[in-house]
Amino acid sequence: MSNLKLGVMISGRGSNLQALIDACADPGFPAEIVVVISNKADAYGLERARMAGIKAVSFSQKKHSSKEAYEQSIDAELRDMGVELVCLAGYMRILGSDFVKGWIDHMINIHPSLLPAYKGLNTHKRALEDGCRFTGCTVHYVVPDLDSGPIISQAAIPISMDDTNETLADKVLPYEHKLYPYAVKLIAEKRINLINNVVHIKGYEDPINGVINPAV
Ligand code: GRF
Repeated sequence: MSNLKLGVMISGRGSNLQALIDACADPGFPAEIVVVISNKADAYGLERARMAGIKAVSFSQKKHSSKEAYEQSIDAELRDMGVELVCLAGYMRILGSDFVKGWIDHMINIHPSLLPAYKGLNTHKRALEDGCRFTGCTVHYVVPDLDSGPIISQAAIPISMDDTNETLADKVLPYEHKLYPYAVKLIAEKRINLINNVVHIKGYEDPINGVINPAV
């Protein structure tokens, strides 16, 4: 079976992109990254891609007549490269519904909260302000409503009394780096069935004690 072709979209440092690059470097991993796209020319993630020998392109909305035209250029690049699954990895712009609808069931995102709690920005700060005892991260399919698509995989992480925004972000990130490649693997191995907008998975490993807990 040939590898699933990924297009990764980023805006910044690209640590989740790096986790995907590292996973794809394993010959047994059923996916490969064919292009990395950023809305920012100076995103460090572009450098990570180039260092790994992956095509890395930036698209500036300013060079396009509208948001729609800008997203059409991105769409064309993804399709030209034969992308089968788009992975949003810290892409910090809200995508228009035409773009999203064109990739429905073929675009996923990683979000630093236990969705459906804390959609949007500043997730760790909001969880702390609410006195939550757990937070986490989620990989989900992308639908036009922000951070609302079917959930694929999650990790729950306890919050300590002395956690700050920064310590919590540092705690959650390693889980993100395990969770994202795991979700890609599930899709590449065709182990996911979407029934009434709920993801059903063949052979889902226990997310806490199993393969995706970085502590084990
Ligand atoms: C991550 O926390 C991810 O969950 C969120 O944006 C951040 C991106 O970080 N969507 P990085 O660029 O992958 O390091």
